[in-house]
Amino acid sequence: MGSSYKVKLAPSILSADFSCLGEQVAETTKAGADYIHIDVMDGRFVPQITIGAPVVAAIRPWTNLPLDVHLMIEAPESQISQFIDAGADIITVHIEACPHIHRAVQTIREARVKAGVAINPDTSIDTVMDVLPSLDLVLLLTVNPGFGGQTFIEAVLDKVAQLRAELDRKNLNTELEVDGGINAEVAPRVVRAGARVLAAGSAVFNSEQTISEALGKIRASL
Ligand code: DX5
Ligand code: ZN
Repeated sequence: MGSSYKVKLAPSILSADFSCLGEQVAETTKAGADYIHIDVMDGRFVPQITIGAPVVAAIRPWTNLPLDVHLMIEAPESQISQFIDAGADIITVHIEACPHIHRAVQTIREARVKAGVAINPDTSIDTVMDVLPSLDLVLLLTVNPGFGGQTFIEAVLDKVAQLRAELDRKNLNTELEVDGGINAEVAPRVVRAGARVLAAGSAVFNSEQTISEALGKIRASL
C-alpha cells in the first residue's frame, strides 16, 4: 500500500468463543490485531445483553493492545467510570443514546481515556460536527447495531466519504472506524472511502480459518 496511513484492525470479540475469552484475546493479539473491539450491549438500546465492565476487567491482563469499548447502551454517562476502572483505552458512546455528548466526552478524556462517538446507519454525521474536534474516534456503524454476522449496508459508504472529507478539511486526526459486515471484500472499499480502523467480528472469529489467517486475508485485501 503506497499510502501514508496504516489501517488498523480491531477484531470484535462478540464473535469469539466466550468460554475461553482470555485465550481468544491473547491469540488475537499474537495474530497482529491493533485493537480489541468489545461490544457492550444492554438489552435496551439494542436487543441483546452481552458484556459488562467485569468482563472488560477480566480481559485486560490478556493483552497489551488498546481495548476499544463500544457502548451500545442507554444512558452511557452513568456507566463510563466503570469501564474506565476496568481498563478501557477507548470508550465510544452512541450519539443516539447520549443527549449530553460533550459532557460524556469530557468525562472520558479527563480520565486520559480516548473518547469516541458512534453513529447508527440512519443517523447523519451532522450530529457530531460540533463535538468533532474533541473526539479521538468516530465509529460509523455499517450495520444496525445489536448482532454480529449481518450484511454491510452499502449506503453508509457515502457517509464514510463525507466524514473523511470533513476530517481532512478540518485537519483533524480523529480516527474513523467502521463496524459491521466488514470482511475482505468490503474492507478495501471502506478504506478507499476513508475508514482507517476496521472492526470485524464474524470475519475474524469463525470455524473456517484461524484468527491469524483471517486477519491476514483482510490485510491482503487492502
Ligand atoms: C454490531 C457490533 C459489531 C459486531 C460486528 O452491533 O457493534 O462490533 O461485532 O460483527 P460483524 O463483523 O460480524 O458484522
Ligand atoms: Zn462494535
